[in-house]
Amino acid sequence: MSKLESIDLNKCPEHIAIIMDGNGRWAKKQGEMRLFGHTSGVEAVREVLKGCVDLGVKYLTLYAFSTENWNRPKEEVDGLMNLLVETIANEVTELNENEVRLLSIGDPNQLPDACRMELEKAKQKTAKNTKVNLILALNYSARWEIINAVKKIASNVEEGEYTAKDISEEHFVNALCMPNIPDPELMIRTSGEYRLSNFLLWQIAYAELYFTDKLWPDFSKEDLFEAVYDYQSRERRFGLVSEQLT
Ligand code: IPE
Ligand code: IPE
Ligand code: MG
Repeated sequence: MSKLESIDLNKCPEHIAIIMDGNGRWAKKQGEMRLFGHTSGVEAVREVLKGCVDLGVKYLTLYAFSTENWNRPKEEVDGLMNLLVETIANEVTELNENEVRLLSIGDPNQLPDACRMELEKAKQKTAKNTKVNLILALNYSARWEIINAVKKIASNVEEGEYTAKDISEEHFVNALCMPNIPDPELMIRTSGEYRLSNFLLWQIAYAELYFTDKLWPDFSKEDLFEAVYDYQSRERRFGLVSEQLT
């Protein structure tokens, strides 16, 4: 029996964020190169996307490449960029079939031209889809995003849009990469690491965190359902006491 049957579809998160970790270790375990792990991770992305369709999840944000990942060996970085170009190009048809809209967060300027162009093309080709929004965090880090937001706010103050004293949470959110997307209610990290690695620091202030030992290429639709089932057992109090929640 699938765990899906135990899930209350009316209480699913609207937005799930995932740190897809463990590709390298997965490959090493089978005596393969790290890149083989990344390639195999693409199937897990497909699976999870389908799972989001089953659950009615509207937004899925995937951490695909961090600003720190540029410091990996050149061979791996090049391999990852090529894989991104290929995957984005190959998946557009299926994204459209499943009514998935592709979006991205992170600084596109440092990406290789081919990668930036393929990403732009895929975003345009899927722009009308409304079932699931797939947000790729590419050359992303939360500290980069926060500094960027501070710069925008400083320049708004300089231009007299509002004063420093009046800066609000709303101004800050509007200066982030995706102001109109609700914060993730659930953040999943695979591979048994218990850290955030510079991912969505502002947006996951109140997210439920779910960690699993599964390495990313082994992560399946059922694992996603397991995480959502676990999420539904949590009491989200937002600073209140249990009795105040109805
Ligand atoms: C995650 O897997 C993918 C990226 C960071 C691009 P890793 O490549 O970090 O795999 P491990 O953590 O070394 O096993
Ligand atoms: C986080 O994984 C980044 C992505 C999944 C893209 P890392 O493997 O880079 O994180 P650390 O180095 O273990 O913190
Ligand atoms: Mg890792």
